[in-house]
Amino acid sequence: MAILKIAKMGHPILKEVAKAVDDPTSREIRELLDNMRETMADAGGVGLAAPQIYVSLRVMIFQIPAEREGDEMAFEEQVLINPELQFLGDEKEDGWEGCLSVPDLRGSVPRFTHINYQGWDENGKKITREASGFHARVVQHEYDHLDGILYPMRMDKLNTLHYVSEMRFNAD
Ligand code: NI
Repeated sequence: MAILKIAKMGHPILKEVAKAVDDPTSREIRELLDNMRETMADAGGVGLAAPQIYVSLRVMIFQIPAEREGDEMAFEEQVLINPELQFLGDEKEDGWEGCLSVPDLRGSVPRFTHINYQGWDENGKKITREASGFHARVVQHEYDHLDGILYPMRMDKLNTLHYVSEMRFNAD
């Protein structure tokens, strides 16, 4: 296991469409996930996608902190390999996002409020779940990394892009 460097906005690997994983249960994927866990924990993020550590594969991990309001489910950790998502309805809501590949900044991003997602974990178990609110936001953010999209590219109010150190209001 290793704490790895995180690619930052501008690096070409973050703009690629990542490749599907052939075998989610392979040793290589376990090692990749170990590195992703350790790197995410060290950096203090709630989610990480493989392209952020220079591996262009459709693998992501995320956590949903239990204290988040409005989230009926909380996860210490969820692995999603080869994820797919569907938007349930047209409703979107604005919310603050940050990204380990866009350090020190926060911005308000519209995301679909309700989604359905599927994927596999490293044990080959199929995951199928509905999500809303913060949970749905995190999944959409990490999924976007697999398609070469960073959250500023989803923003419709660029004047909300802030350095955290300069913010003078509660961003939650
Ligand atoms: Ni991110």
